Amino acid sequence: MLFLLYIVSLLSSHAFLSPVPNNPLFKHIDDHTHDYKQRLKDWVAIESDSSDPSKRDQVVHMMQVTKDYILQLDGKVEMAELGEQEYSPGIKLPLPPVILAEFGNDTNKPTVCFYGHMDVQPAKKDDGWQTEPYTVTEKDGNLYGRGTSDDKGQILALLHAVESVKKFGLPVNVKLFIEGMEEVGSHGLEQLVEQKKNTFFSNVDYIVVTDTPWLSTKPGITYGARGNCYFFLEVDGARRDLHSGGFGGTVHEAMSDLVYLLGTLADVKGKILIPGIYDDVLPVTEEEKKLYKDLVFDLEDLERDTGIKTFLHDTKEELLMHRWRFPSLTIHGIEGGFSGSGTKTVIPAKVIGKFSIRQVPKMKPSVVEKQVSDYLEKQFAERKSPNKMKVTMVIGAQPWLANMSEPQYLAARNAVKKVFNVDADMIRAGGTIPIAKHFEDVLGKSVMLLGIGGPDDAPHGQNEKISMHNFIEGTKLYASFLQELASF
Ligand SMILES: *[C@@H]1O[C@H](CO)[C@@H](O)[C@H](O)[C@H]1NC(C)=O
Ligand SMILES: *[C@@H]1O[C@H](CO)[C@@H](O)[C@H](O)[C@H]1NC(C)=O
Ligand SMILES: [Zn+2]
Repeated sequence: MLFLLYIVSLLSSHAFLSPVPNNPLFKHIDDHTHDYKQRLKDWVAIESDSSDPSKRDQVVHMMQVTKDYILQLDGKVEMAELGEQEYSPGIKLPLPPVILAEFGNDTNKPTVCFYGHMDVQPAKKDDGWQTEPYTVTEKDGNLYGRGTSDDKGQILALLHAVESVKKFGLPVNVKLFIEGMEEVGSHGLEQLVEQKKNTFFSNVDYIVVTDTPWLSTKPGITYGARGNCYFFLEVDGARRDLHSGGFGGTVHEAMSDLVYLLGTLADVKGKILIPGIYDDVLPVTEEEKKLYKDLVFDLEDLERDTGIKTFLHDTKEELLMHRWRFPSLTIHGIEGGFSGSGTKTVIPAKVIGKFSIRQVPKMKPSVVEKQVSDYLEKQFAERKSPNKMKVTMVIGAQPWLANMSEPQYLAARNAVKKVFNVDADMIRAGGTIPIAKHFEDVLGKSVMLLGIGGPDDAPHGQNEKISMHNFIEGTKLYASFLQELASF
Protein backbone atom coordinates (compact mmCIF):
# COMPACT_ATOMS: atom_id res chain seq x y z
CA MET A 1 0.00 0.00 0.00
CA LEU A 2 2.68 2.44 0.99
CA PHE A 3 4.69 1.52 -2.07
CA LEU A 4 1.74 2.19 -4.32
CA LEU A 5 1.23 5.57 -2.69
CA TYR A 6 4.80 6.41 -3.25
CA ILE A 7 4.47 5.73 -6.99
CA VAL A 8 1.40 7.93 -7.09
CA SER A 9 3.23 10.78 -5.44
CA LEU A 10 6.14 10.39 -7.83
CA LEU A 11 3.78 10.55 -10.76
CA SER A 12 2.02 13.57 -9.40
CA SER A 13 5.26 15.45 -8.90
CA HIS A 14 6.33 14.70 -12.45
CA ALA A 15 3.06 16.16 -13.66
CA PHE A 16 4.37 19.57 -12.61
CA LEU A 17 7.50 19.65 -14.74
CA SER A 18 8.56 22.98 -16.15
CA PRO A 19 6.46 24.05 -19.12
CA VAL A 20 9.24 26.38 -20.31
CA PRO A 21 12.04 24.03 -21.40
CA ASN A 22 14.04 26.71 -23.21
CA ASN A 23 14.08 29.26 -20.42
CA PRO A 24 17.81 30.06 -20.04
CA LEU A 25 17.40 30.88 -16.35
CA PHE A 26 15.83 27.49 -15.65
CA LYS A 27 18.46 25.80 -17.78
CA HIS A 28 21.18 27.47 -15.73
CA ILE A 29 19.60 26.06 -12.59
CA ASP A 30 19.25 22.57 -14.07
CA ASP A 31 22.88 22.66 -15.18
CA HIS A 32 24.04 23.43 -11.62
CA THR A 33 22.04 20.76 -9.81
CA HIS A 34 25.19 18.91 -8.85
CA ASP A 35 26.77 21.99 -7.20
CA TYR A 36 23.55 22.84 -5.39
CA LYS A 37 23.29 19.36 -3.94
CA GLN A 38 26.94 19.43 -2.88
CA ARG A 39 26.50 22.72 -1.07
CA LEU A 40 23.46 21.34 0.78
CA LYS A 41 25.59 18.34 1.83
CA ASP A 42 28.32 20.65 3.14
CA TRP A 43 25.86 22.79 5.06
CA VAL A 44 23.88 19.92 6.58
CA ALA A 45 27.20 18.45 7.82
CA ILE A 46 27.55 21.45 10.14
CA GLU A 47 25.61 20.40 13.24
CA SER A 48 23.99 23.76 13.93
CA ASP A 49 21.60 22.49 16.61
CA SER A 50 20.66 25.63 18.55
CA SER A 51 19.15 23.69 21.47
CA ASP A 52 22.43 21.96 22.39
CA PRO A 53 24.88 24.22 24.27
CA SER A 54 27.82 22.03 23.21
CA LYS A 55 26.99 22.76 19.56
CA ARG A 56 26.59 26.53 19.85
CA ASP A 57 29.96 27.09 18.15
CA GLN A 58 28.64 25.08 15.19
CA VAL A 59 25.67 27.42 14.89
CA VAL A 60 28.02 30.40 14.94
CA HIS A 61 30.21 28.63 12.35
CA MET A 62 27.12 27.99 10.18
CA MET A 63 26.33 31.72 10.17
CA GLN A 64 29.90 32.42 9.09
CA VAL A 65 29.72 29.86 6.26
CA THR A 66 26.46 31.43 5.08
CA LYS A 67 28.03 34.89 5.20
CA ASP A 68 31.02 33.67 3.16
CA TYR A 69 28.76 32.27 0.46
CA ILE A 70 26.77 35.52 0.28
CA LEU A 71 30.06 37.44 -0.09
CA GLN A 72 31.08 35.02 -2.82
CA LEU A 73 27.87 35.99 -4.63
CA ASP A 74 28.90 39.67 -4.28
CA GLY A 75 26.32 40.42 -1.63
CA LYS A 76 26.92 42.99 1.09
CA VAL A 77 26.78 41.48 4.59
CA GLU A 78 26.45 42.87 8.09
CA MET A 79 26.55 40.51 11.05
CA ALA A 80 24.32 41.82 13.84
CA GLU A 81 25.65 40.64 17.18
CA LEU A 82 23.03 39.77 19.79
CA GLY A 83 25.36 39.27 22.75
CA GLU A 84 24.94 36.39 25.14
CA GLN A 85 22.16 34.12 26.25
CA GLU A 86 21.71 33.20 29.91
CA TYR A 87 21.32 29.48 29.13
CA SER A 88 20.91 28.44 32.75
CA PRO A 89 21.81 30.22 36.00
CA GLY A 90 25.51 31.13 35.75
CA ILE A 91 25.97 29.64 32.26
CA LYS A 92 26.18 32.09 29.41
CA LEU A 93 26.36 31.13 25.75
CA PRO A 94 27.14 33.35 22.78
CA LEU A 95 24.10 34.07 20.63
CA PRO A 96 24.82 33.48 16.93
CA PRO A 97 24.86 36.73 14.95
CA VAL A 98 22.01 37.55 12.57
CA ILE A 99 22.90 38.00 8.91
CA LEU A 100 21.69 41.21 7.28
CA ALA A 101 22.61 40.99 3.63
CA GLU A 102 21.85 42.92 0.50
CA PHE A 103 22.08 42.39 -3.24
CA GLY A 104 21.51 45.53 -5.28
CA ASN A 105 20.45 48.97 -4.08
CA ASP A 106 18.73 50.47 -7.14
CA THR A 107 16.16 52.94 -5.80
CA ASN A 108 14.07 52.48 -8.95
CA LYS A 109 13.45 48.84 -8.13
CA PRO A 110 11.36 47.26 -5.39
CA THR A 111 13.18 45.61 -2.50
CA VAL A 112 12.22 42.23 -1.13
CA CYS A 113 13.63 40.89 2.11
CA PHE A 114 13.72 37.14 2.79
CA TYR A 115 13.74 35.70 6.28
CA GLY A 116 14.98 32.23 7.23
CA HIS A 117 17.18 30.40 9.72
CA MET A 118 20.33 28.28 9.68
CA ASP A 119 19.91 26.48 13.00
CA VAL A 120 18.28 23.06 13.18
CA GLN A 121 16.35 20.83 15.54
CA PRO A 122 18.30 18.17 17.46
CA ALA A 123 18.91 14.86 15.66
CA LYS A 124 20.64 11.63 16.63
CA LYS A 125 20.82 8.37 14.71
CA ASP A 126 19.52 6.66 17.88
CA ASP A 127 16.28 8.65 17.70
CA GLY A 128 15.21 6.34 14.90
CA TRP A 129 16.91 7.83 11.86
CA GLN A 130 17.55 5.37 9.05
CA THR A 131 20.57 7.39 7.91
CA GLU A 132 23.14 9.58 9.64
CA PRO A 133 21.19 12.81 10.24
CA TYR A 134 24.11 15.12 9.44
CA THR A 135 25.18 13.24 6.31
CA VAL A 136 22.92 13.97 3.38
CA THR A 137 21.83 10.67 1.87
CA GLU A 138 20.11 10.54 -1.49
CA LYS A 139 17.46 7.89 -1.87
CA ASP A 140 14.50 7.55 -4.23
CA GLY A 141 14.69 11.16 -5.33
CA ASN A 142 14.90 12.53 -1.79
CA LEU A 143 17.75 14.12 0.13
CA TYR A 144 17.64 12.94 3.75
CA GLY A 145 19.32 14.87 6.55
CA ARG A 146 18.63 17.33 9.39
CA GLY A 147 17.95 20.76 7.93
CA THR A 148 17.51 19.60 4.33
CA SER A 149 14.01 21.06 4.48
CA ASP A 150 13.97 23.16 7.67
CA ASP A 151 15.53 25.48 6.77
CA LYS A 152 18.95 25.06 5.12
CA GLY A 153 17.51 23.55 1.94
CA GLN A 154 15.02 26.37 1.54
CA ILE A 155 17.56 29.13 2.22
CA LEU A 156 20.00 27.50 -0.19
CA ALA A 157 17.35 27.28 -2.89
CA LEU A 158 16.84 31.01 -2.42
CA LEU A 159 20.58 31.78 -2.52
CA HIS A 160 20.99 29.61 -5.61
CA ALA A 161 18.08 31.48 -7.16
CA VAL A 162 19.80 34.80 -6.44
CA GLU A 163 23.05 33.44 -7.90
CA SER A 164 21.21 32.33 -11.05
CA VAL A 165 19.10 35.44 -11.52
CA LYS A 166 22.18 37.66 -11.12
CA LYS A 167 23.65 36.06 -14.24
CA PHE A 168 20.79 37.62 -16.19
CA GLY A 169 20.63 40.93 -14.26
CA LEU A 170 19.04 41.30 -10.83
CA PRO A 171 15.46 42.50 -11.48
CA VAL A 172 14.76 43.64 -7.88
CA ASN A 173 16.84 44.47 -4.82
CA VAL A 174 17.16 41.48 -2.53
CA LYS A 175 17.80 41.55 1.20
CA LEU A 176 18.32 38.64 3.56
CA PHE A 177 17.58 38.46 7.26
CA ILE A 178 18.87 35.11 8.48
CA GLU A 179 19.05 34.03 12.11
CA GLY A 180 20.48 31.09 14.03
CA MET A 181 18.12 30.66 16.98
CA GLU A 182 14.74 30.04 15.35
CA GLU A 183 14.25 26.54 16.70
CA VAL A 184 14.59 27.74 20.30
CA GLY A 185 12.47 30.86 20.17
CA SER A 186 14.43 33.42 18.10
CA HIS A 187 16.25 35.05 21.02
CA GLY A 188 16.66 38.78 20.51
CA LEU A 189 15.16 38.79 17.03
CA GLU A 190 12.10 40.91 17.71
CA GLN A 191 14.21 43.65 19.28
CA LEU A 192 16.59 43.50 16.31
CA VAL A 193 13.71 44.01 13.86
CA GLU A 194 12.66 47.07 15.88
CA GLN A 195 16.24 48.37 16.02
CA LYS A 196 16.72 48.01 12.27
CA LYS A 197 13.34 49.39 11.30
CA ASN A 198 14.67 52.75 10.11
CA THR A 199 17.92 51.46 8.65
CA PHE A 200 18.11 47.97 7.15
CA PHE A 201 14.34 47.62 6.74
CA SER A 202 13.59 51.22 5.73
CA ASN A 203 13.56 50.58 1.97
CA VAL A 204 12.08 47.06 2.15
CA ASP A 205 8.76 46.76 0.31
CA TYR A 206 8.00 43.08 0.83
CA ILE A 207 8.92 40.43 3.37
CA VAL A 208 9.03 36.77 2.42
CA VAL A 209 9.45 34.00 4.96
CA THR A 210 11.20 31.00 3.40
CA ASP A 211 10.53 28.45 6.11
CA THR A 212 7.29 26.70 5.35
CA PRO A 213 5.91 23.58 3.65
CA TRP A 214 3.32 23.07 0.96
CA LEU A 215 0.04 21.31 1.65
CA SER A 216 0.66 18.71 -1.05
CA THR A 217 3.02 18.10 -3.96
CA LYS A 218 1.41 21.20 -5.47
CA PRO A 219 3.20 24.47 -4.54
CA GLY A 220 1.49 26.45 -1.83
CA ILE A 221 1.67 30.09 -0.76
CA THR A 222 0.84 30.77 2.88
CA TYR A 223 -1.19 33.90 3.66
CA GLY A 224 -2.34 33.40 7.23
CA ALA A 225 -1.69 31.70 10.55
CA ARG A 226 -3.70 31.18 13.71
CA GLY A 227 -2.70 32.65 17.04
CA ASN A 228 -2.60 30.92 20.37
CA CYS A 229 -4.12 31.84 23.72
CA TYR A 230 -2.79 29.39 26.26
CA PHE A 231 -4.46 29.09 29.68
CA PHE A 232 -3.63 27.66 33.08
CA LEU A 233 -6.74 26.76 35.06
CA GLU A 234 -5.76 26.19 38.67
CA VAL A 235 -7.97 24.62 41.33
CA ASP A 236 -6.67 24.70 44.85
CA GLY A 237 -8.19 22.49 47.54
CA ALA A 238 -6.34 21.17 50.57
CA ARG A 239 -3.06 22.42 52.02
CA ARG A 240 -1.38 19.12 51.10
CA ASP A 241 -2.11 15.96 49.14
CA LEU A 242 -4.55 13.70 50.99
CA HIS A 243 -5.23 9.96 51.08
CA SER A 244 -8.47 8.85 49.48
CA GLY A 245 -8.91 6.22 52.19
CA GLY A 246 -8.84 8.87 54.86
CA PHE A 247 -10.44 11.81 53.07
CA GLY A 248 -12.43 10.42 50.14
CA GLY A 249 -16.04 11.32 50.87
CA THR A 250 -15.18 14.13 53.23
CA VAL A 251 -13.58 16.86 51.09
CA HIS A 252 -14.39 18.75 47.86
CA GLU A 253 -11.71 17.45 45.56
CA ALA A 254 -9.77 19.91 43.40
CA MET A 255 -9.38 17.38 40.58
CA SER A 256 -13.14 16.80 40.35
CA ASP A 257 -13.71 20.53 40.02
CA LEU A 258 -11.02 20.84 37.37
CA VAL A 259 -12.27 17.92 35.28
CA TYR A 260 -15.79 19.31 35.48
CA LEU A 261 -14.64 22.76 34.34
CA LEU A 262 -12.50 21.41 31.50
CA GLY A 263 -15.50 19.37 30.38
CA THR A 264 -17.58 22.52 29.91
CA LEU A 265 -15.18 24.14 27.41
CA ALA A 266 -16.17 22.41 24.17
CA ASP A 267 -18.73 19.90 22.94
CA VAL A 268 -18.10 16.55 21.26
CA LYS A 269 -18.05 18.18 17.80
CA GLY A 270 -15.27 20.53 18.87
CA LYS A 271 -17.59 23.55 19.16
CA ILE A 272 -16.27 25.95 21.81
CA LEU A 273 -19.00 26.62 24.39
CA ILE A 274 -17.61 29.93 25.69
CA PRO A 275 -20.17 32.66 24.96
CA GLY A 276 -19.06 35.24 22.40
CA ILE A 277 -15.96 33.32 21.34
CA TYR A 278 -17.03 33.15 17.68
CA ASP A 279 -18.29 36.77 17.53
CA ASP A 280 -15.16 38.27 15.98
CA VAL A 281 -14.37 35.42 13.55
CA LEU A 282 -14.40 36.76 9.99
CA PRO A 283 -17.27 35.39 7.89
CA VAL A 284 -16.36 33.01 5.05
CA THR A 285 -16.56 34.83 1.72
CA GLU A 286 -17.49 33.31 -1.63
CA GLU A 287 -14.03 34.14 -2.95
CA GLU A 288 -12.47 32.31 -0.03
CA LYS A 289 -14.63 29.23 -0.62
CA LYS A 290 -13.29 29.02 -4.16
CA LEU A 291 -9.70 28.86 -2.85
CA TYR A 292 -10.54 25.81 -0.76
CA LYS A 293 -12.17 23.94 -3.63
CA ASP A 294 -8.93 23.55 -5.59
CA LEU A 295 -6.70 22.58 -2.70
CA VAL A 296 -5.12 19.17 -2.97
CA PHE A 297 -5.76 17.49 0.37
CA ASP A 298 -6.29 13.75 0.59
CA LEU A 299 -8.51 12.59 3.45
CA GLU A 300 -7.26 9.02 3.07
CA ASP A 301 -3.70 10.22 3.63
CA LEU A 302 -4.90 11.97 6.75
CA GLU A 303 -6.58 8.79 7.98
CA ARG A 304 -3.45 6.76 7.35
CA ASP A 305 -1.19 9.32 8.97
CA THR A 306 -3.26 9.63 12.16
CA GLY A 307 -4.93 6.24 12.39
CA ILE A 308 -8.22 8.11 12.83
CA LYS A 309 -11.28 7.10 10.81
CA THR A 310 -13.81 9.72 11.88
CA PHE A 311 -12.86 13.38 12.04
CA LEU A 312 -14.83 16.32 13.40
CA HIS A 313 -15.83 17.28 9.86
CA ASP A 314 -16.49 15.29 6.72
CA THR A 315 -15.17 17.29 3.80
CA LYS A 316 -11.77 18.57 2.79
CA GLU A 317 -13.10 22.15 2.83
CA GLU A 318 -14.59 21.92 6.32
CA LEU A 319 -11.55 20.19 7.76
CA LEU A 320 -9.13 22.75 6.36
CA MET A 321 -11.30 25.69 7.36
CA HIS A 322 -11.40 24.39 10.90
CA ARG A 323 -7.66 23.90 10.85
CA TRP A 324 -6.91 27.36 9.46
CA ARG A 325 -9.68 29.92 9.75
CA PHE A 326 -11.86 28.92 12.70
CA PRO A 327 -10.77 28.82 16.32
CA SER A 328 -10.23 25.51 18.09
CA LEU A 329 -9.80 24.53 21.72
CA THR A 330 -7.42 21.82 22.93
CA ILE A 331 -6.97 20.44 26.44
CA HIS A 332 -3.29 19.59 26.78
CA GLY A 333 -2.83 18.15 30.25
CA ILE A 334 -3.12 18.42 34.00
CA GLU A 335 -0.23 19.33 36.26
CA GLY A 336 -0.30 18.06 39.82
CA GLY A 337 -2.55 15.08 39.25
CA PHE A 338 -1.32 11.52 39.50
CA SER A 339 -0.22 10.43 36.04
CA GLY A 340 2.30 7.63 36.59
CA SER A 341 1.70 3.96 35.98
CA GLY A 342 0.14 1.81 38.65
CA THR A 343 -2.36 2.90 41.29
CA LYS A 344 -1.87 5.72 43.72
CA THR A 345 -4.73 6.55 46.06
CA VAL A 346 -3.99 10.24 46.30
CA ILE A 347 -6.33 13.22 46.40
CA PRO A 348 -4.18 15.90 44.73
CA ALA A 349 -4.24 19.14 46.72
CA LYS A 350 -3.74 21.49 43.78
CA VAL A 351 -4.14 20.81 40.08
CA ILE A 352 -3.55 22.97 37.02
CA GLY A 353 -5.39 22.23 33.79
CA LYS A 354 -3.67 23.41 30.61
CA PHE A 355 -5.65 24.28 27.53
CA SER A 356 -5.31 26.62 24.60
CA ILE A 357 -7.43 28.30 21.99
CA ARG A 358 -6.02 28.68 18.49
CA GLN A 359 -7.63 31.96 17.62
CA VAL A 360 -8.13 33.60 14.24
CA PRO A 361 -8.62 37.11 12.80
CA LYS A 362 -10.18 39.33 14.22
CA MET A 363 -10.18 37.66 17.64
CA LYS A 364 -8.09 39.61 20.16
CA PRO A 365 -6.20 37.77 22.90
CA SER A 366 -7.35 40.29 25.52
CA VAL A 367 -10.99 39.71 24.58
CA VAL A 368 -10.53 35.93 24.50
CA GLU A 369 -8.91 36.11 27.93
CA LYS A 370 -11.91 37.93 29.39
CA GLN A 371 -14.45 35.62 27.72
CA VAL A 372 -12.66 32.53 29.04
CA SER A 373 -12.25 33.92 32.58
CA ASP A 374 -15.85 35.14 32.81
CA TYR A 375 -17.20 31.81 31.59
CA LEU A 376 -15.10 29.63 33.89
CA GLU A 377 -15.81 31.86 36.90
CA LYS A 378 -19.53 31.58 36.21
CA GLN A 379 -19.33 27.79 35.79
CA PHE A 380 -17.33 27.47 38.97
CA ALA A 381 -19.67 29.71 40.96
CA GLU A 382 -22.65 27.62 39.84
CA ARG A 383 -20.90 24.45 40.98
CA LYS A 384 -20.71 25.90 44.49
CA SER A 385 -17.39 24.34 45.39
CA PRO A 386 -15.52 25.88 48.33
CA ASN A 387 -12.17 25.35 46.57
CA LYS A 388 -10.26 28.20 44.96
CA MET A 389 -10.09 28.62 41.20
CA LYS A 390 -7.76 30.83 39.14
CA VAL A 391 -7.55 31.33 35.37
CA THR A 392 -4.36 32.76 33.84
CA MET A 393 -3.58 33.35 30.17
CA VAL A 394 0.13 32.58 29.85
CA ILE A 395 0.52 33.05 26.07
CA GLY A 396 -1.44 35.46 23.90
CA ALA A 397 0.00 35.14 20.40
CA GLN A 398 -1.82 37.03 17.67
CA PRO A 399 -3.14 35.45 14.49
CA TRP A 400 -1.90 36.75 11.15
CA LEU A 401 -3.73 37.27 7.86
CA ALA A 402 -2.23 38.90 4.78
CA ASN A 403 -3.82 40.82 1.95
CA MET A 404 -3.57 38.46 -1.00
CA SER A 405 -3.97 41.29 -3.50
CA GLU A 406 -0.54 42.68 -2.62
CA PRO A 407 1.92 42.54 -5.53
CA GLN A 408 4.17 39.93 -3.93
CA TYR A 409 1.28 37.46 -3.78
CA LEU A 410 0.43 38.08 -7.42
CA ALA A 411 4.10 37.68 -8.36
CA ALA A 412 4.39 34.42 -6.43
CA ARG A 413 1.27 33.03 -8.07
CA ASN A 414 2.62 33.95 -11.49
CA ALA A 415 5.92 32.31 -10.64
CA VAL A 416 4.22 29.07 -9.55
CA LYS A 417 2.29 29.04 -12.81
CA LYS A 418 5.44 29.61 -14.80
CA VAL A 419 7.57 26.96 -13.10
CA PHE A 420 5.01 24.25 -12.33
CA ASN A 421 2.22 25.01 -14.79
CA VAL A 422 -0.44 24.84 -12.04
CA ASP A 423 -2.27 27.39 -9.93
CA ALA A 424 -0.72 27.72 -6.48
CA ASP A 425 -2.56 26.40 -3.45
CA MET A 426 -3.38 29.42 -1.29
CA ILE A 427 -2.93 28.03 2.20
CA ARG A 428 -2.74 29.00 5.85
CA ALA A 429 -0.98 27.61 8.88
CA GLY A 430 -3.04 26.09 11.67
CA GLY A 431 -0.21 26.90 14.07
CA THR A 432 1.29 30.21 15.02
CA ILE A 433 4.01 32.11 13.13
CA PRO A 434 4.88 34.96 15.50
CA ILE A 435 7.60 36.36 13.26
CA ALA A 436 5.14 37.02 10.41
CA LYS A 437 2.86 39.02 12.68
CA HIS A 438 5.84 40.80 14.20
CA PHE A 439 7.26 41.86 10.82
CA GLU A 440 3.86 43.15 9.82
CA ASP A 441 3.21 45.03 13.07
CA VAL A 442 6.65 46.57 13.51
CA LEU A 443 7.53 47.31 9.90
CA GLY A 444 4.05 47.75 8.46
CA LYS A 445 5.07 45.76 5.38
CA SER A 446 3.32 43.05 3.45
CA VAL A 447 4.43 39.59 4.61
CA MET A 448 4.17 36.34 2.67
CA LEU A 449 5.29 32.79 3.39
CA LEU A 450 6.77 31.22 0.29
CA GLY A 451 8.50 28.00 1.21
CA ILE A 452 9.43 24.98 -0.84
CA GLY A 453 9.16 22.19 1.76
CA GLY A 454 7.05 19.15 0.94
CA PRO A 455 4.08 18.14 3.14
CA ASP A 456 5.88 14.99 4.34
CA ASP A 457 9.38 16.37 4.91
CA ALA A 458 9.22 15.67 8.68
CA PRO A 459 10.98 18.93 9.51
CA HIS A 460 11.25 18.28 13.26
CA GLY A 461 11.10 14.51 13.13
CA GLN A 462 13.31 11.58 12.22
CA ASN A 463 14.32 11.13 8.59
CA GLU A 464 13.83 14.76 7.61
CA LYS A 465 14.18 15.19 3.87
CA ILE A 466 13.58 17.42 0.91
CA SER A 467 12.83 15.98 -2.48
CA MET A 468 15.22 16.80 -5.32
CA HIS A 469 12.13 17.98 -7.17
CA ASN A 470 11.24 20.54 -4.50
CA PHE A 471 14.86 21.59 -4.05
CA ILE A 472 15.55 22.27 -7.72
CA GLU A 473 12.12 23.36 -8.94
CA GLY A 474 11.89 25.41 -5.73
CA THR A 475 15.09 27.19 -6.77
CA LYS A 476 13.37 28.02 -10.05
CA LEU A 477 10.33 29.20 -8.11
CA TYR A 478 12.37 31.73 -6.12
CA ALA A 479 14.24 32.83 -9.23
CA SER A 480 11.02 33.26 -11.17
CA PHE A 481 9.43 35.10 -8.23
CA LEU A 482 12.21 37.70 -8.29
CA GLN A 483 11.65 38.26 -11.99
CA GLU A 484 7.88 38.43 -11.68
CA LEU A 485 8.08 40.88 -8.78
CA ALA A 486 9.96 43.31 -11.00
CA SER A 487 6.91 43.75 -13.20
CA PHE A 488 4.75 45.23 -10.41
C1 LIG B 1 25.02 50.61 -3.89
O1 LIG B 1 25.73 49.54 -4.47
C2 LIG B 1 26.91 49.95 -5.13
C3 LIG B 1 27.49 48.73 -5.82
O2 LIG B 1 27.62 47.66 -4.94
C4 LIG B 1 27.87 50.59 -4.11
O3 LIG B 1 29.03 51.04 -4.76
C5 LIG B 1 27.16 51.74 -3.40
O4 LIG B 1 27.96 52.23 -2.37
C6 LIG B 1 25.85 51.30 -2.84
N1 LIG B 1 25.12 52.44 -2.30
C7 LIG B 1 24.54 52.42 -1.11
C8 LIG B 1 23.79 53.66 -0.73
O5 LIG B 1 24.58 51.45 -0.36
C1 LIG C 1 -5.02 44.95 -0.46
O1 LIG C 1 -3.98 45.30 -1.34
C2 LIG C 1 -4.41 45.96 -2.50
C3 LIG C 1 -3.20 46.11 -3.42
O2 LIG C 1 -2.13 46.73 -2.75
C4 LIG C 1 -5.07 47.28 -2.14
O3 LIG C 1 -5.54 47.93 -3.29
C5 LIG C 1 -6.22 47.01 -1.18
O4 LIG C 1 -6.75 48.23 -0.73
C6 LIG C 1 -5.76 46.20 0.01
N1 LIG C 1 -6.91 45.82 0.82
C7 LIG C 1 -6.96 46.05 2.11
C8 LIG C 1 -8.19 45.58 2.81
O5 LIG C 1 -6.08 46.60 2.72
ZN1 LIG D 1 12.13 26.31 10.27
